[in-house]
Parts: sequence; structure tokens; C-alpha cells
Amino acid sequence: MKQTIKTLLTLLLAMTATETWANAPVGEGLKDAYKDYFMVGVAVNKRNVSTPEQMALVRQEFNSMTAENDMKPVSVHPAEGVWNWGGADSIANFARQSGIKLRGHCLCWHSQFSDWMFKDKKGRPVKKEVFYQRLREHIHTVVNRYKDVVYCWDVVNEAIADNVMSWPGHEGNPYRESQHWKLCGDEFIAKAFEYAHEADPNALLFYNDYNECDPGKRDRIYNMVKKMQQAGVPIHGIGMQGHYNIYGPSEKDIDDAITKYSELVKHIHVTELDIRTNTEMGGQLRFSRGEARPLAPYLQALQNDQYNRIFRIFRKHRDVIDCVTFWNLSDRDSWLGVNNHPLPFDENYKPKPVYHILRNFNPAVDNAVVKDDFKPNRWNATPHSGLWSENQPGQEYPQVNSQGYVRFRLNAPDAKSVIVSLGLGGRGGTVLRKDKDGVWTGVTEHPEDPGFHYYHLTIDGAVVNDPGTHNFFGSCRWESGMEIPAPDEAFYQLRQDVPHGNVSQVLFPSKSTGEVKTAWVYTPPTYGQATGKGAKAKQERFPVLYLQHGWGENETSWFRQGCAGLIMDNLIAEGKTKPFIIVMTYGMTNDVKFGKIGEFTAKEFETVLVDELVPYIDSHFLTKKDKWSRAMAGLSMGGFETKLITLRRPEVFGYYGLLSGGQYAPEDIKDAKQVRLIFQSCGSKERPDAIRKSTEALKAAGLPAVGYISEGTAHEFLTWRRSLREMAPLLFK
Ligand code: XIL
Repeated sequence: MKQTIKTLLTLLLAMTATETWANAPVGEGLKDAYKDYFMVGVAVNKRNVSTPEQMALVRQEFNSMTAENDMKPVSVHPAEGVWNWGGADSIANFARQSGIKLRGHCLCWHSQFSDWMFKDKKGRPVKKEVFYQRLREHIHTVVNRYKDVVYCWDVVNEAIADNVMSWPGHEGNPYRESQHWKLCGDEFIAKAFEYAHEADPNALLFYNDYNECDPGKRDRIYNMVKKMQQAGVPIHGIGMQGHYNIYGPSEKDIDDAITKYSELVKHIHVTELDIRTNTEMGGQLRFSRGEARPLAPYLQALQNDQYNRIFRIFRKHRDVIDCVTFWNLSDRDSWLGVNNHPLPFDENYKPKPVYHILRNFNPAVDNAVVKDDFKPNRWNATPHSGLWSENQPGQEYPQVNSQGYVRFRLNAPDAKSVIVSLGLGGRGGTVLRKDKDGVWTGVTEHPEDPGFHYYHLTIDGAVVNDPGTHNFFGSCRWESGMEIPAPDEAFYQLRQDVPHGNVSQVLFPSKSTGEVKTAWVYTPPTYGQATGKGAKAKQERFPVLYLQHGWGENETSWFRQGCAGLIMDNLIAEGKTKPFIIVMTYGMTNDVKFGKIGEFTAKEFETVLVDELVPYIDSHFLTKKDKWSRAMAGLSMGGFETKLITLRRPEVFGYYGLLSGGQYAPEDIKDAKQVRLIFQSCGSKERPDAIRKSTEALKAAGLPAVGYISEGTAHEFLTWRRSLREMAPLLFK
């Protein structure tokens, strides 16, 4: 029984889209993965640099650090003549000891500032000269103290307005109307940079802001920096804070902002990256802290996608981007609250799937050229065949190109998010993006494996089918399905030059379940024809293959997405197999829940199949009725059933087939004479070694085993179509 549970677990695991990462070497962190691109930084608090596990994580993953709060004016210089170095020193010392570079943050900001600088002892406003003197002393003192370890400073933070009202004759104020601006106009910006440059001429000096990809604010930042530079102000870099969310900014806005800023500066740092799982964005200190509940999978997928996309853009701009800093070490540390889930490490400091997406990026994907030769999804040589493996009438999407990329399109102007479950290497699907007309489009990140794929759409969390394609039963529901043309597709195509058999529905009584059940029966082209003449004329009788589907599928799966009938027609026409009947019925697998799989014995199904369906077929069709004219095979969980039933009822079936459905062990076969073929197969992307090994062992035990590996395919229907093609000629010999 233990073995049984293990096999079933392995099967089900193989059936679910497993998350396989292109693994970076163990022990390598983000900093190593990005060594040819940019430094990867993290904002830290005092706990992060004094808790051993967190210290180890920082050292493992990052090569740049920022003090989240401890170097801000309010922290180090809360009152005139009062300096608090404790927090800042502990962070600087950790950086020194760890050989991690430190970004200085920040010298001049409207928030968390040394507001006393604006007032005299009696609380009256000071003149700007007094303010400048104080600011200069502040900047000199802080910059000098950390000169040896801080390589760049955010000198001025957030001096540009978020929104500006302009109308004809009125130019709105591009600057934030802070105390600084009210006292000094934009001159305080120039002064702050000059003071910092005096204090450390070697430090790189940054202007830092949020919503920096918003085209309006971007242009205001650009204009300000340009104006300052023209006046000789030493601004060397622009800090893009990067407080984003799962819906935006768009790739284009990020790309455009980097491109525009790079006209002015040689250094761009992404200084405070985090991606909220709601619609809030930016650096305002007001935000919702989220509700304590697990993140819905579709929101997780959107976040994975957003991180993935923006890192692709960052990598593209590696010439100008020298550092990307996450704002906080883990969700637990996030200034946004743990329930915003904004970072690659979770509240237990464990890497989330998105961490692996970022670390194990594939440069080939960044540089991939997707050919623009997309055509509507269709594998069949004969259009409108009624076989449903093409788009619905008049539907242009989904489309497939010659490389196997898939392009999707959906009109849903008011939707907030659309995700297609196909794509991103099984890591959450393809996220579509909306154009200005409200039309959502997207292309899979990779070419898809050839053959048939199930998929669905998730629109704002609701799972629905794609109106462009037909539905196929899989995952216990009618799913959308589509085809990537395979190089060997001729063997399952509908051909005009080939005689065709029939697939017909049978309704048979099932006493054991009290139901009328369905089976679909493929009969070969010559079925029912009389051979011989006159009194000697008789109808030929055929052997029968009972062919089972997998866990979430049903009795329609083999002849629709499996193309079982077409495969037989083609094989028979080419003289590769003798004609036989195929019976496809429901294997009662849909109700087996993951927690209950240990209890699954296929006993009830065995009764339906062997004691009810086999006699019904034998009395209603022209069959040969002995065990050497009967085979049973199944894919995935249907293979599991096949193994159980063939071993319990050796008198019924003489040929066994497990297609991605486990293996027989030599000791399973009580009598070598009970079976004439043990066919076992899987895709090369499954566990081909298990098939090879088992086939060897069976053969060594003198059993008639044949193994087959389908090249380049996974736990999907092309593996099983090919397996049927390979198995059929070996049956009933
Ligand atoms: C945030 C810190 O993370 C919080 O702990 C603090 O309460 C407020 O400031 N833009 C910046 C950062 O430049 O300094 C801010 O950091 C986040 C927005």
C-alpha cells in the first residue's frame, strides 16, 4: 500500500505544473546572479545588522546596503548640536566588516528632516543664510563620518511635485512646496549638492524621487536636473525609488524614464524597490497596511510577472543602472507592512517564488527575438473538420508563431488584470497587458512545447475559458485547449487520403453504481464489412484496447485531445498496425481528492470496467472475446488504474500499457505467461530514467517489456499520442 501511495503521489506531482528553476549554483545570491549587470542592494534596519540569521542573509544576497532610517537627518541630528550616531554607526560597521558598499540616504528631505534648522531658539523662522549654514554643517559632518564606506549619497530626496495644475497663461509649480522650497526656492537643491561635493568630492551624488516613471513627474525631474547641471551643480545620478505595484507602472513607462534620465546622468540607481499587491504606488507616507490573509494566487502571479518584467528592463539598461536596491530585507521588515507582501523574501526571511524568478533569469530570454509570423491556433490539415483543435469560428486568437510562442488577445476594457495559465515555464502563466483601447494582449515568455496544452484565463481572480478556443475536459473541468504544431504531427492529423473509422457513444447500464454510464468506442474503417463471398461471407471480429484517461480528464479526452481515432486510422492505412477497437470510458478519477489518494484502490472502477463494460462491449460489438484479444492501457492516473486492474484480473487482459503512468516491477507479474506486452512510456521532460530502468529490469526477468521516451515533451498529450502510436503496432500479436 505504501508503494501505491508513493506511486500515486509521484504521478499527481508530475501532473501538476511543477516549478522547476534553471538553478543558479547553491550558495549564490542575487548579487552573484547580477554580477555582470548591477549591484543588488537592500535597505536595512538595526535588527537586520544584529540578528545573526538576518546578517547572514544580507551577506549572502546583497553587495550594497542603505540605512532605511538611521542616516536620515531626524535620526542623526534631531536638534542643534545633538548627534545620535548609534544606529548609523552600527549599520556602517556591519557594512565595513562585511565588505558591503553603503549608499548614503539621505541628506536633505522634507520628511524625517531636522526641522529645527528652520527655526531660531524662540521658534521664529530663520533667514535662508542661517538655514544654509546649518544644512552645510549637517552635510559635512555626516558625509565625513562615513566617507570610507559610503560610496554615494541621496543628497536631495523628493523635491518635485506629484501633480501640477497648468493651464494657458499659468505654468504650475514643478516643485514640492516644502519648507525648504518656501524658504529658498529651488536654490536649496543646488546648495545641498554643493555641500556634499565639498565634503566628499569622490562620492556619487544622487537626486532621488518616487513616481519617477510617471511621464509628467519624470519630465519635471528631468527638467530640474538638467537646469541644475547647466548651472554647474554636481548631480551625478538619479535615484528611481521604485515603489511600484502589481498593475504598474508599465514596462514602457519604466523603459522611457530610464532612457530619458540617461540623457543627463551616467548613473541610475533603483533605490527603494518594492511591489505592492494593491493599487497604491509611490513614496507617500500614507498607505494601507493590507489585511492579514494569504495572498490570492492570481495576485502572486501578477507580482511575479511585474518583478520579472521590470528586472528585464533593468538588465537591458545595465550600462546606466549600477545598483538596484530592495526597500527592506523581507516582508516582515517592509515599511508597507507584512500584508502588502512586497518583497522577494517572506515574513520568515524565506525566498518566495519570485526570488527564484529573479535570481535564475535566463539571458537568452532577454535577448530572444520573437518572430512576427503568428497564425491562428490550428493543427489540423483540414480546416473546419469539426474536431475542435482550432480556434472557434472567426476567432483570430490565440495565435502561434513558427518558434512556438503563443500570442493571446482578449477584449475586456474594464478588467484590472488578465492572466493566461499557459506560459512562463509553468511559473504562473502569461500576464496580458491592456492597450489604450482596452484590449489585453501578451506573448508567452518561452516557446511552448509542441503538442496540445490545456489553459484558462484568470480575469481579476475569476477563472474562465478563452472565448477564442474550444474546450477540452481536463483538470476536472472543460478547459480551453490549443496546439503547438509538432514536427511529427502528420501521424495524428486528419488526412483526406486515409479511410476513417468511427467514434461512437455507447450508454451502458452499470448495476454496481446504479447509473447509466458512457463509453466512446473507436471502430476501425473496415469494421462491419463482410469478408468472403456468398455463404462464406462473414463479419470480421476485432481485438479491443481499453484505454484510460488521466486524473482530471474523462472519457472524451482520448479521442478529442488524444486524437486516438485519427492515430489509428493513419497507422492502419500505412499498414503499421492491425485494426482493433478502442473503448474509452470514465475512470472515476475526478473525485479523488489530493488528501484522499492513499485510499484510492480503483476497485469500484474495476467492477464497472471488467464486470459491466467488457461484457456489454462483447455483446454489442464484433469483438474477439479472449484475453489475448484484450489490452488495457492508461495515461497518468489511468496508468495507475491499469496496473492495479491488470494485476488483479490477469484473466481479462493480455497486454498492458502505462503511459506516464508508473511502472511494473518484475515481482508484480506472478506468472510470466500472463502477459504478452508490457509497454511503458513517458516524455523526456518527465522521469525517463525510471522507464529505462524498469524496462531493463522487466526484460532481465524475462518479461516482454518495451520502453518508449517521447523526445522534448512533458506530462502532456503529445507524449501520449506518440505513446499510442508506438504501442498500437505491438498489440495483439
Ligand atoms: C520610509 C521608511 O521605510 C519608514 O520606516 C519610515 O517610517 C518612513 O520612511 N521614500 C524614501 C524613504 O526615500 O526614505 C522612505 O522610507 C520611503 C519613501
